[in-house]
Amino acid sequence: MNKLSFRLKKIKNLISSDSNIIWDLCCDHGQLGKSLLPNKKKVYFVDIVPHIINSLEKSISSKNCEFQIKDATEIRIENRIDESIVMAGVGGWTCIKILEALKNKYCNLKSEFILAPQKNLLTVKEYLLENEFTLISEDIIQDKKNYYNILKVRRKENA
Ligand SMILES: C[S@@+](CC[C@H](N)C(=O)[O-])C[C@H]1O[C@@H](n2cnc3c(N)ncnc32)[C@H](O)[C@@H]1O
Repeated sequence: MNKLSFRLKKIKNLISSDSNIIWDLCCDHGQLGKSLLPNKKKVYFVDIVPHIINSLEKSISSKNCEFQIKDATEIRIENRIDESIVMAGVGGWTCIKILEALKNKYCNLKSEFILAPQKNLLTVKEYLLENEFTLISEDIIQDKKNYYNILKVRRKENA
């Protein structure tokens, strides 16, 4: 397995230790999800590009995972308190669209979200505030020549 980048290690460490269900959304290489396979009950790999998911499926032999070729706005989650949904390496508007789709599908959204948008961070924060997501933590890290903000949030109960 390839070594995780400093950024992905930080994201991994922010996932609550008692989370059992992980969504590696917009997963591309799937490095984050792969690194979690040994310790988690289930890891979902999702990407909109078919060949990305097809080659991940061929290279991973673990039984505790599922592969989905789709726009991440279309996922159906388990909606559990011990479920973590990670969106990293995509723009802020993509994160917002995915959150909005989930918010509309599940009136009581229980999962935690780890968001590391590449741009439009302020727009994401405004969206989170307006839509009753509680900020659990925000980390700013430097990985090589870039700074990254990583937000951990959960929607307020009965919001
Ligand atoms: C730069 S990679 C990020 C990979 C990984 N998450 C990371 O942080 O290193 C972005 C990936 O997001 C996928 N993607 C972009 N929009 C998407 C969407 N709406 N639904 C699913 N996948 C999407 C792209 O196909 C691409 O593989």
